[in-house]
Amino acid sequence: MRIAVLVSGNGSNLQALIDAKLSGKIVGVLSNKANAFAIDRAKQANISTAIISHQDFPDRESFDEQMHEQLIAWEVDLVILAGFMRILTSNFVKKWQGKMINIHPSLLPAYKGMHTHQRVLNTGDTLHGCTVHFVTAELDAGQAIAQGSLQVLAHDTAHSLAQKVHHLEHFIYPLVVEWLCSGQLYLKNNTVIFNASPLYRPLCFSNP
Ligand code: GRF
Repeated sequence: MRIAVLVSGNGSNLQALIDAKLSGKIVGVLSNKANAFAIDRAKQANISTAIISHQDFPDRESFDEQMHEQLIAWEVDLVILAGFMRILTSNFVKKWQGKMINIHPSLLPAYKGMHTHQRVLNTGDTLHGCTVHFVTAELDAGQAIAQGSLQVLAHDTAHSLAQKVHHLEHFIYPLVVEWLCSGQLYLKNNTVIFNASPLYRPLCFSNP
């Protein structure tokens, strides 16, 4: 499997994927931000990089088309979103349906969108975590594959939750990507298939 990772920022999830020594090969890291630290991480690991700034395009369609061309040029089989902070057009998503996953810092379907840690604290939830899901045109709404959960403690802050959720993410994301690489996991007729059976609920992990 030839893998591309799409990033916008720090890239700690990219690092976890690099360190995991997947059976697939990360052939390219694409960022919409030239100064993303994730790009430094990719270069350090001798992975090809591409900067495609959304600001250089008049609309989302043309930006996404440029990204698609880069992915095709890299001959990519799998697209991994790892802190990629742009909303994707439905055209682009359709082209990569079943081949593109994302990791989101909440127990979806709760807390789609941004600032999940603070919103969890504001609500007073005692359970929080992250979700890996296939990407569909609707934001953070694709078929869930795996979730990592943790207890929210009385002294937790948005910062401490972010750290704990990241720790979970670095464990779960490489696992899921490896399942895709090995063919254990795929999407068929909009249903997640895991180990030859339909997966109706995400696989759950807690505080690894
Ligand atoms: C992660 O929390 C991920 O869930 C969200 O963006 C963050 C990316 O962090 N989609 P990093 O850039 O991988 O460190």
